Amino acid sequence: MRVIVAKDYEEMSRKAANLIAAQITLKPESVLGLATGSTPLGTYKELIARCAAGDISFAQVTSVNLDEYRGLPRDNDQSYYYFMHHNLFSKVDIDCARTHIPDGTEADSAEACRRYDEVVRSVGGVDLQLLGLGHNGHIGFNEPSDSFTKGTNCVNLTESTIQANARFFASEKDVPTQAYTMGIGTIMSARRVLLVANGEGKAEIVKKAFFGDITPRVPASILQLHPDFTLVIDRAAAALL
Ligand code: F6R
Repeated sequence: MRVIVAKDYEEMSRKAANLIAAQITLKPESVLGLATGSTPLGTYKELIARCAAGDISFAQVTSVNLDEYRGLPRDNDQSYYYFMHHNLFSKVDIDCARTHIPDGTEADSAEACRRYDEVVRSVGGVDLQLLGLGHNGHIGFNEPSDSFTKGTNCVNLTESTIQANARFFASEKDVPTQAYTMGIGTIMSARRVLLVANGEGKAEIVKKAFFGDITPRVPASILQLHPDFTLVIDRAAAALL
């Protein structure tokens, strides 16, 4: 595990963007695993600027996103489909036909999960997986549990995750209660993993997940075992290390 501590959110975002830019420069046909949430927004802004400047290109990149709410149509502005198109895909030169997100509108959850595992398999697995970190240690929507998940699964979101996401919806009752997420096994199969976390609110969980016991009660803790894992955090998130 490599730990990079940046002075603030902007520097964290630039450093994370550096690693992604290097990945797609060295391997233009990379498969990127992408995350939503507030943390990677600065990283995406950096990548958009570098693409506009002609320094990097997504033209040959394939992407597979981590997760999607179950039951939200793509055009709902809280769907992760909408998020990715709004915050990255429409602003870089990526071929949208090569972008993949679990299908939140597929009502048959077993079928949705099976199909998404097949997508990840068919693109040859993930070269670089970008992750954020939930306050309870979740990655993707893999919530604390008795065991680590393997492939794509349909999860019941915990109360704390629903509350954390409520800020994006009109009210807490509008937050979907289930989501499709890539499994921990798939995340661990990525050839490189990059996790970004910022702010004092993440300090406790950063310490627990990456310097504490490896346990499915803190799903991100398994990343300690990944052979090519880089943690990019700001000083506030590193405060308890
Ligand atoms: C999003 C995702 C989640 C978030 C996590 C942190 O695709 O998979 O695990 O990364 O909830 O969210 P933020 O960045 O909003 O603190």
